[in-house]
Parts: sequence; C-alpha cells; structure tokens
Amino acid sequence: MKYNRGMTITTPDPSSTIPAATEYAPDAPDAMVIQSGDLVLLLGADYKRFLVRVQSGHSTHTHLGVFRHDHLIGQLWGGVATSESGHQALVLQPGLADLMKQVKRGTQIIYPKDAAYIVHRLNLRAGSRVIEAGTGSGSLTIALAWAVAPSGLVVTHEVRPDIFKVARDNLERTGLLPYVKMYQTDIEDGFQVGDADALFLDVREPWRYLHHVRRALRPGGFFASLLPTANQVIDLLHGLDEHRFADVAVEELLLRAYKPTPDRFRPDENVVGHTGFLIFARCIARDEEIGRWQRPERRRYEARMRTQAEIEAEAARRAADVAAGGKKYPRMPLPG
Ligand SMILES: C[S@@+](CC[C@H](N)C(=O)[O-])C[C@H]1O[C@@H](n2cnc3c(N)ncnc32)[C@H](O)[C@@H]1O
Repeated sequence: MKYNRGMTITTPDPSSTIPAATEYAPDAPDAMVIQSGDLVLLLGADYKRFLVRVQSGHSTHTHLGVFRHDHLIGQLWGGVATSESGHQALVLQPGLADLMKQVKRGTQIIYPKDAAYIVHRLNLRAGSRVIEAGTGSGSLTIALAWAVAPSGLVVTHEVRPDIFKVARDNLERTGLLPYVKMYQTDIEDGFQVGDADALFLDVREPWRYLHHVRRALRPGGFFASLLPTANQVIDLLHGLDEHRFADVAVEELLLRAYKPTPDRFRPDENVVGHTGFLIFARCIARDEEIGRWQRPERRRYEARMRTQAEIEAEAARRAADVAAGGKKYPRMPLPG
C-alpha cells in the first residue's frame, strides 16, 4: 500500500488473526487488550483526561458518568468506552506526558517540555543512577524513572512530609515506584547516596548544596537545575565556579503549540511564556583551576576586566604621585 509522502507500509495479511486497531476482539493477544491492573487514559470528546488503574469490580466517576472497569477489561486499546449515562471516551494507553501532567499537585511541577530535555542533557538511559531534590509532586521523578528503568535507580529527596506523601502516591499510581528510592530528608544534611551518574536540583537555592552535590556525583558527573528567575541563575553561576563545575550552560526552551485544524492551521494563542531557566554543568576534578575551563567568551571577559583593573590601579597610583608633587605622566588610554 502506498501512503502519501511516498512512505510505504505493508498491507496486512487478510488471513491474519491480528484484529484492526479499534476492533473489539476477545481473542486478541494480551498486549492488545486492557487487563485488570492496567493504567488507562480515558479521553473525553471535551479533551478532559482521566488516568484510571483498572480493577475488576471497581468503577470510575467522571463528569461523563460512571465507567465500570469490568466493561473496560478485555477491550482493545484505542477503543471507546461508554459510561452508564451513555457518554463515551477513548480508552488509551497513557503516555509519559499523561503520567506527568496527571499527578496530584502539591507543588509547581516540571512539565514534559523541560523534563524531556533534562533527561537528554543528564545523559540518562536504562541503568543510570540519578539523584534528585526536591521531589515535589514527583512529576520530574516520573520522567527520570521512565528513563532509567528497568535496571537504573532514581534517588529522590523531599523535606516536607505532606509533599513526600503526595509524590509517593503519584509514583505508586504510575507503577514506577520500584525504580525510585524516596527519602524524606533535608538535603542540607547531604544526599543519602553517592556515586551518581547525574544529579538534578529543583529547590529555591541550589547553590547552597553544591558541596553535597560534589560528594554525591561521580567524577565528571552531570548536574542540572531549573530556576524560574534570573537572579537565582546568577547566584548558581557563582556557586558553580566556587565548587569547580565546568561546561556550564544556561538555556531556555520555548514550546509553541499549533491548532491542528487542517483548513485553519495556525499557532495556538495560549503560549506559556516562561517556565524556567535550565542550568547544566559537569563536575570536574577538585584541584583543577576553574578559570582555565570556563567558556572562551567568559575567559576573554575576565581577562579584559583584569586589564582594566590594573590600568585603573596604575592611574590611581600616578594621580597620587602627581598630587604629592612628584613625576608628571602622559595620559593613559583606558581599554574601550
Ligand atoms: C518546585 S518543587 C519540585 C517539583 C518537582 N520537580 C516536580 O516536577 O514535581 C520543590 C520541592 O523541593 C522541596 N525542597 C526545598 N528545599 C529542600 C531541601 N533542602 N531538601 C529537600 N527538599 C527540599 C520543597 O519542599 C518542594 O517540594
């Protein structure tokens, strides 16, 4: 079969027993039908989304009416469920973004836009060990666990007991808790483990914990943080210098959504202007002279500032000489 844009897809074998995507098929392979224990996304025509852990004998109450789980079990993914009051919803396997956005919120959360890039910049993959603080509602923890599972581990720290519980429930609901070790501790006292491949901080004053970050990261490990204000970024940049972090980058992601109406295709007016600045760095050997490893434009700026300070000090010395009735000097040009 020829698909538009020249893509070729194979025509299904008509004798195949595999049912078409949305067909009801009681004999379909297990992975294609909803089982008791599965996490299901109910998507109404109004685009309201409900995350449901399907359990035989249970039901879910929504504004579209009551959905009985026993009616969902055995249905093909991608099909339609009907509530007791006759309203319908699509039955989909939730994606990572659904899991993150559907968390019960006790704090601000990190959204998929930033989380996806954080996972990439922290170099996470199955088997990685990553430390995080604070856990907050656990939205980023979900993305981290998703990336490092099944052989890796997220070690997360949250100081507030009420928020710790919210995050724990959220992680339990997604089924990702086995890949997360949660500590209800203050990172002021340090992190609970070391030898981490990467470490992420989402706390108000991350620069206060960089001495602990150094101890917890393996040499050369990946560090990142998200901060909403520029003032915080500047404090963190000073802290990263002080604690010998190199390859420092500050970035921001802007995401623009479009209205997917083919005849009126245009940008969505609801643009999120700013979520946060993302700061990335690598932990380098403690005895390295950090000035050598700063970015070239930063080194050029620092060199210019040193020269200017030397010229100003010399000008002050000469002015003092002249004022004391000593030597007369020609005018000194200051760097432009
Ligand atoms: C903005 S929230 C984190 C949100 C989280 N990244 C998410 O996506 O859901 C910041 C959290 O850090 C916690 N926190 C602040 N200082 C902390 C500290 N010193 N030790 C541990 N947790 C801390 C706060 O209680 C709060 O829950």
